[in-house]
Amino acid sequence: MKENIIEMEKYAIEHNVPIIEKKSIAFIMRYIKEHNVLNILEIGSAIGYSAILMASSTKDVMVTTIERDETRYMECLKNVKKCGMDKKINVVFQDALELNLSDELRYDLIFIDAAKGQYIKFFEKYKNFLNPSGVIITDNLKFHGYVGESAKLDKGNLKSLVEKIESYVDFLKNNNEFDTVFKDIGDGLSISTWKQ
Ligand SMILES: C[S@@+](CC[C@H](N)C(=O)[O-])C[C@H]1O[C@@H](n2cnc3c(N)ncnc32)[C@H](O)[C@@H]1O
Repeated sequence: MKENIIEMEKYAIEHNVPIIEKKSIAFIMRYIKEHNVLNILEIGSAIGYSAILMASSTKDVMVTTIERDETRYMECLKNVKKCGMDKKINVVFQDALELNLSDELRYDLIFIDAAKGQYIKFFEKYKNFLNPSGVIITDNLKFHGYVGESAKLDKGNLKSLVEKIESYVDFLKNNNEFDTVFKDIGDGLSISTWKQ
């Protein structure tokens, strides 16, 4: 398993696949253990790195992960199998904004780690599948230090992406339904729970 994880880290560098930072996944794995998380929904599998590590956190936790890119989906399936995780991880090949999950499904943890410009849409869609005591964790809220600095960026794709993440941060801060804690871990994590 450890060797497979190292191989995935190398593959991610060589193929330019963004994967979660080590400190961030370590935080999430600790959270899974401490809060007895049993069901996870991940939006954005890439090659399965975070899904495999989350699934390995405890004996009972199960992960459903969604990926829209075919090459990454295939690589993810391969890695899940290699790590012997095929009974704990369900990999779904679809755009998460088009997927229709069964209405009855509920998750203890929803991890948003897909297209940064769509974070509000993912949150609004998938909050309906969160258990009352569940948590939505989002990655990359610092976006390499650019978030909060968009005014200084020249017009272009980067500026517009950073502005979208800034809008997501505002959306979380001003949310009537959720309380959010922002953690300065890795590339920035948010932890959102239903308001009591
Ligand atoms: C940052 S990577 C995920 C990294 C992964 N969670 C990890 O840490 O190992 C983001 C992934 O989300 C996928 N993605 C982006 N938008 C998506 C969408 N709407 N539905 C499904 N997957 C999406 C991308 O193809 C990409 O592979």
